[in-house]
Amino acid sequence: MADQQQVYPVPDEWKRRAKVDAEGYETLYGRSIADPGSFWLEQARRLDWIKRPEIAGDWSFDESDFHINWFTDGKLNVAANCIDRHLASRGAAPAIIWEPDDPNEPARRYAYLELHQEVCRFANVLKAEGVEKGDRVTIYMPMIPEAAFAVLACARIGAIHSVVFAGFSPEALAGRITDCDSEFCITADEGRRGGKRIPLKANVDAAADRAPALKKVIVVQATGGDVAMKEGRDVWYHHVAESVSDDCPAEVMGAEDPLFILYTSGSTGKPKGVLHTSGGYLLWASLTHELAFDYKEGEIFWCAADIGWITGHSYILYGPLANGATTVMYEGVPNWPDASRIWQIVDKHQVNTLYTAPTALRALMAEGDQPVKATSRASLRLLGTVGEPINPQAWRWYYDVVGDGRCPVIDTWWQTETGGHMIAPLPGAHDLKPGSAVKPMPGVDPQIVDADGNVLPGATEGNLVIAKSWPGQMRTVWNDHDRFFQTYFSTYPGKYFTSDGCRRDEDGYYWITGRVDDVINVSGHRMGTAEIESALVLHEKVAEAAVVGRPHDVKGQGIYAYVTLNSGVHPSDELRDTLKQWVRKEIGPIATPDALQFAPSLPKTRSGKIMRRILRKIAEGDTSSLGDTSTLADPSVVDHLVANRVA
Ligand code: WTA
Repeated sequence: MADQQQVYPVPDEWKRRAKVDAEGYETLYGRSIADPGSFWLEQARRLDWIKRPEIAGDWSFDESDFHINWFTDGKLNVAANCIDRHLASRGAAPAIIWEPDDPNEPARRYAYLELHQEVCRFANVLKAEGVEKGDRVTIYMPMIPEAAFAVLACARIGAIHSVVFAGFSPEALAGRITDCDSEFCITADEGRRGGKRIPLKANVDAAADRAPALKKVIVVQATGGDVAMKEGRDVWYHHVAESVSDDCPAEVMGAEDPLFILYTSGSTGKPKGVLHTSGGYLLWASLTHELAFDYKEGEIFWCAADIGWITGHSYILYGPLANGATTVMYEGVPNWPDASRIWQIVDKHQVNTLYTAPTALRALMAEGDQPVKATSRASLRLLGTVGEPINPQAWRWYYDVVGDGRCPVIDTWWQTETGGHMIAPLPGAHDLKPGSAVKPMPGVDPQIVDADGNVLPGATEGNLVIAKSWPGQMRTVWNDHDRFFQTYFSTYPGKYFTSDGCRRDEDGYYWITGRVDDVINVSGHRMGTAEIESALVLHEKVAEAAVVGRPHDVKGQGIYAYVTLNSGVHPSDELRDTLKQWVRKEIGPIATPDALQFAPSLPKTRSGKIMRRILRKIAEGDTSSLGDTSTLADPSVVDHLVANRVA
């Protein structure tokens, strides 16, 4: 494969100016594995501790003694690390630059000093409304600065935030509020994206009907749109903010005190509440931000994700702010008002590092080079990517067209569960190969195993596991520690199973090949096929559903649903649309099936298990190689599916 052999060596200039060169990486990585105790205690110095830890990792992945702790005896406050400690040296430096949806509206800038005031004020509003340390606070917000203030305000007072992506439906929001028993929700009147308005407060109202735990809703006025306020439950943020102070002491937190919950999809059941704690998570976000992006003081960093996802948590907020960086927050979408928007923002705010997803690149690439070339992009020095495997074609477009051949492309592999980057090149240390996430971060011990768990050496391919704990690792599934163990540590005993497939080449470079479970990756968003199936079977006309992913040029994967209707119900185009809209309403627009095929029955084994392998092949149109169908209870089912496949 010619694509995979093409190598982009570290430019001499980067060898000189990068913080870590090839030798530096080997030393750093070697020490992190050989002597993790002293390595991590030394790394811990990058944070500002109220009480510095004397214990680094204390963990075991074995069932009999299963536990994961980092820096347990340390005390700190995460928000103070992201704000207060920079005030003396960088108080006037910009912490957040906010770019609105509409390019004709003014951007907003907050210096660290102003961020301190805003976060303290928000924290005092939360306190005034009864939020206490350990309470769960749901944040359902558009990409406005107040979303950042809300997150950091929770961290400041020790409340556990649970950010729910503003694209999720009221049903999905209600499920997440209920799962973590969250009495508080912070939202805005409306959100704006690509010139459209999203009725966030109305969605919270609809969610509240199904989420009895919810007691209080704090509403930020973002657009001035008309919303209903429920007496005794809803308050306007700006009303309460008038009467509180803009100084608020930072709560002393243990390193292992929970910082946040973030729901993510797995292969079974409802979304899991991934729990991250304070010290280890922040250390990981901060260290990986500095290493992978070679962050240097004064640089402007733009992660074009949404704070509703882990990428937004770790690389819009916690990582960059812990490092005293200037972080850009963008309210809108990449292609509105036109396909030049991203590059215009880069020029407008003189962005040095841009971090985005392959799906956005593929969508913009389809618009041709002109919208890019119409802008300067001279401020860019580094480009990052995350969320799904990047195809070499998109990689090269990013490198050649966006970066004008000057900027390293840093492909970062990681997960909600890992807190931050796990495998990624360091720009001054590693030659790049398009499509490879290159080498592990310090402390990360990746192994490739076969189905039986045998560790495969050298150049090989199999399932990716991580053999040692790292500080940014999730600590549990909220309220379901057993599910945490079963999901991640039972498949390959003693190891964390990533659910990703992976290849390692002769240079020891890692190539992530995609999920090996029933999770699909649609436009860089992780979706459990089981969730979509559950939504479909909730419909009164649906008897059974099976959902698979199939390759999609822009989205990476598209959603293909097979639906068996109840007897007596006739398939129609109208019903097909109704069912697609139904999923959209139950979960959110990102879960809308791209294709929906009516199937009188589904291919099953004699024991009744749906054969997804076959469904995937049919969806892909790869019907000549369906493999062994002899184990099917009724092989003729397949012929019907093939004949009625949706192109
Ligand atoms: C996939 C997003 C290939 C992978 C940070 C993983 C990637 C899942 C990459 C986690 C990458 C993420 N190359 N695949 N650079 N980054 N993935 O939890 O399948 O939303 O398991 O975290 O995205 O998605 P999540």
